[in-house]
Amino acid sequence: MPVETLASPQTPILEVSGICRRVGDAVLLDDCAFTLPRGQTAVLLGPSGAGKSTLLRCINLLAPADRGRILFDGRDIMAPGVDAPGVRRDIGMVFQNFELFDHMTVLENIMLAPMRVRGLSRNQARDLAMAMLEKVHLPHRADALPSGLSGGQQQRAAIARALAMQPRLMLYDEPTSALDPEMTGEVLTVMSDLAAEGMASVVVTHEMGFARRVADQIVFMQAGQVVEETPGADFFAGRCSVRARRFLERVMD
Ligand SMILES: Nc1ncnc2c1ncn2[C@@H]1O[C@H](COP(=O)(O)OP(=O)(O)OP(=O)(O)O)[C@@H](O)[C@H]1O
Ligand SMILES: [Mg+2]
Repeated sequence: MPVETLASPQTPILEVSGICRRVGDAVLLDDCAFTLPRGQTAVLLGPSGAGKSTLLRCINLLAPADRGRILFDGRDIMAPGVDAPGVRRDIGMVFQNFELFDHMTVLENIMLAPMRVRGLSRNQARDLAMAMLEKVHLPHRADALPSGLSGGQQQRAAIARALAMQPRLMLYDEPTSALDPEMTGEVLTVMSDLAAEGMASVVVTHEMGFARRVADQIVFMQAGQVVEETPGADFFAGRCSVRARRFLERVMD
């Protein structure tokens, strides 16, 4: 049974505090903190190696944090005895490289987890998968194999697969960086539409135009630390730290 939370509408969907992760002598994350209110989108920015992917992986318990606290919908998911697969069911994750099963059709890819993990019947799972394919504008490719799809279509199918688990939070790690520029837009549009519908999201991306459009807040990271957490409008108006401004000047060139 999923653990019910007693979260009120004011409870942030995500509260990360004091997160540290070391591997051997390397400090990957050093006292990272940020808060994501319900229904909002945070964009994680920062130079390569800053720790953005590591922080996303800690949030969805794919990488263990050594210290700190992560409250997901008000519940401490780093507490001993937490059902990690259960938490992961409620947090959708989309990676750079889609990771669809190539021997199954797009529809079957999306039906799989709702049947196996949520216990839906085949018919229920098919209806749900088709509804998710409508959301990402791909119902006409339901019976195709992933290899027959463009990169942009594959990534939209991967988003549909994540949505079929009815997550309360979506994490995206550079979802468009393996795509040609002409396919990037269609994926970003799907992500913006979901954000506009109130899907809480944490996005790592180098697409600054997108970040500017959708980010309620920017979480800027450098060398394993969250340097600042700034409302998107302020950040892009230059009301941010000197370090973040330097980064912005470099990437906006
Ligand atoms: N399992 C690991 N063991 C040791 N070092 C690691 C491990 N995973 C990541 N690192 C190191 O931790 C740092 C942060 O990596 P991470 O992948 O989180 O950065 P990032 O901000 O996502 O970078 P990019 O923009 O290039 O994707 C890097 O220096 C990386 O080499
Ligand atoms: Mg990364």
